[in-house]
Amino acid sequence: MSKNPSQQDHETVQFSEIFKKFKRLRLFEPSVGVLGFFLVTVCVICCFFYLDFRSVINKVYRVPGKSERFMWLQINGSGPNRRFEFLGQEGDGCDVFDGEWVWDESYPLYHSKDCSFLDEGFRCTENGRPDLFYTKWRWQPKHCNLPRFDAKAMLEKLRNKRLVFAGDSIGRNQWESLMCMLSSAVPNEDSIYEVNGSPITKHKGFLVFKFQDYNCTVEYYRSPFLVLQSRPPAGVPGNVRLTLKLDQMDWNSGKWRDADILVLNMGHWWNYEKTIRGGTYFQEGTEVKLEMRVEQAYHRSIETVFQWIQNQMNTSKTQVFFRTFAPVHFRGGDWRTGGSCHLETLPELGSSLVPSETWAQYKIFADVLSAYSNQELKFDILNITRMSAQRKDGHSSVYYHHSQPAPFRRQDCSHWCLPGVPDSWNELLYALLLKHKHMKTYNISSYRAYSFD
Ligand SMILES: *[C@@H]1O[C@H](CO)[C@@H](O)[C@H](O)[C@H]1NC(C)=O
Ligand SMILES: *[C@@H]1O[C@H](CO)[C@@H](O)[C@H](O)[C@H]1NC(C)=O
Ligand SMILES: *[C@@H]1O[C@H](CO)[C@@H](O)[C@H](O)[C@H]1NC(C)=O
Ligand SMILES: *[C@@H]1O[C@H](CO)[C@@H](O)[C@H](O)[C@H]1NC(C)=O
Ligand SMILES: *[C@@H]1O[C@H](CO)[C@@H](O)[C@H](O)[C@H]1NC(C)=O
Repeated sequence: MSKNPSQQDHETVQFSEIFKKFKRLRLFEPSVGVLGFFLVTVCVICCFFYLDFRSVINKVYRVPGKSERFMWLQINGSGPNRRFEFLGQEGDGCDVFDGEWVWDESYPLYHSKDCSFLDEGFRCTENGRPDLFYTKWRWQPKHCNLPRFDAKAMLEKLRNKRLVFAGDSIGRNQWESLMCMLSSAVPNEDSIYEVNGSPITKHKGFLVFKFQDYNCTVEYYRSPFLVLQSRPPAGVPGNVRLTLKLDQMDWNSGKWRDADILVLNMGHWWNYEKTIRGGTYFQEGTEVKLEMRVEQAYHRSIETVFQWIQNQMNTSKTQVFFRTFAPVHFRGGDWRTGGSCHLETLPELGSSLVPSETWAQYKIFADVLSAYSNQELKFDILNITRMSAQRKDGHSSVYYHHSQPAPFRRQDCSHWCLPGVPDSWNELLYALLLKHKHMKTYNISSYRAYSFD
């Protein structure tokens, strides 16, 4: 911003007057001495603490063969801050979604070049992303330790079972992440195949991958709204191409019902652009509600999904998870107006945390959920909004194309690079699945407490 000259003069005059006053009071010379003394003192104190800190770290927490630089991030805590194992009995009630990202040299869990189940759009390193930092962060809950992901153990847990993801392309992002995490433990990749022979790339509809040795399937159903999108009733205005039936589940929901584990998500398509602008309006019963706002419709559809789980699902057979909204990080715009995230290489660490409520999609979800505070919830919440909010460094940005660099004005700050953030969602899913089993063994029925504050 350029100031006009008279304003500048004014400021100069003010400054020189203050300076004169300073001189008059003879504060200037002594203050150099005071400042010097202060700096030296600070230096001494800092060195003292730094050296002491290092010697403590070296004495107590020396783990050979690992980068020492980040050792202090990996200690478990002691005394009142001691962390319990989430799977142990002491870990009951631990909120695994409350925690921080810690640097871990042993990550990532797999490399994209070794995994044939990934869309091009998620292969950031192969598409030219220069830094690997984004693959090195592990989620550490504040009050307990997660079990380390063990693909064989998870496959064993899935033996003879169906694991189904249904939702939008961020759900697909998570599904592909899990495909890579699991297949890393299967030596013969030919023993993992799509049961209908469908190719994995750019596929709409659904994909069912079978792990032959474990007789289990890991499936993805594209259903960005979860409720039914179909032709409108007769006699509606010509601009109504399709309607979302806010009180009916997607046609494919019949295929989700018999799953053993079901992971649902939605949110990214509930906006004006992807609905009304394209001629998709909202309908309840036989009535098309031309005036209904997207937020209202989203609220209504979440209610429908919740009711479907509570009333239609056999939750003794199917363990249902609802994954919360995954934040987007467009800086200075959105995906149409040149919003960007390609310069982000580090997570948001420390206390400047963005509340989950920043994202309307999370807020609406939480509103619907609050109405259930007096009821027994028959599903778990995979509450990843807050943890992922910190990972502005994790998106595909301009690295979603293999052949040519993507235009800077069309960045992808919604999907995530793989390996990356969705791996951590799956580690939490893994922990919750194991815990479920564990709790059954110990016959503790209140294990859902950790989902809520
Ligand atoms: C820290 O936790 C790990 C498991 O996550 C455990 O193996 C290790 O013994 C713990 N270390 C301390 C110092 O408690
Ligand atoms: C999700 O986790 C955050 C952080 O721990 C918490 O503030 C929020 O209340 C949780 N929401 C739900 C629905 O459990
Ligand atoms: C494979 O799993 C299905 C359930 O998904 C089960 O019905 C079938 O009996 C299993 N097959 C074998 C050979 O165990
Ligand atoms: C629900 O699933 C359990 C476990 O598979 C089964 O025993 C029970 O009969 C099912 N209930 C209904 C109503 O289908
Ligand atoms: C589990 O605990 C409940 C009460 O907490 C009890 O009624 C039930 O018999 C127990 N089941 C087993 C298998 O121990």
